[in-house]
Amino acid sequence: MTTNRTFTMIKPDAVANGHAGKILDHIIQAGYKVVALKYTHLSAEKAGEFYAVHSERPFYKDLVEFMISGPIYAAILEKDNAVEDFRKVIGATNPSEAEAGTIRNLFAKSIDANAIHGSDSDENAAIEGNFFFAENERF
Ligand code: CMP
Repeated sequence: MTTNRTFTMIKPDAVANGHAGKILDHIIQAGYKVVALKYTHLSAEKAGEFYAVHSERPFYKDLVEFMISGPIYAAILEKDNAVEDFRKVIGATNPSEAEAGTIRNLFAKSIDANAIHGSDSDENAAIEGNFFFAENERF
């Protein structure tokens, strides 16, 4: 079953580089409604928990360290076919493989500092959205 919501984080590199506003505008111009939005700085514990699915991967430690290196924006986004379409809007995980005009092509520097996260399934979109937002924080 597909839902009409996905979850995103604008990562520390994009926030530090002053790209958060442009990225949010890019998302809205792509047809997404921002249902929930939060500016926050993850603790090591929270970042480790969020990315627990990658805990056995060699890049896990660096990923957690990077994600706690500065504040992020977390958001729930709504649009038809939200998850699949958003993966196209952000482009490939490795920015060197991201198509022209995608957010990672425009704003990301490396596979670690890749500007933005997007949920990879409807199930994970719900889990990740619930990780950051209570029901009364969604509009
Ligand atoms: P994200 O979509 O947030 O999900 C996991 C993150 O791990 C990914 O973006 C990348 O920033 C990071 N990462 C680092 N190395 C790799 C890799 N080899 N494969 C996948 N993700 C990686």
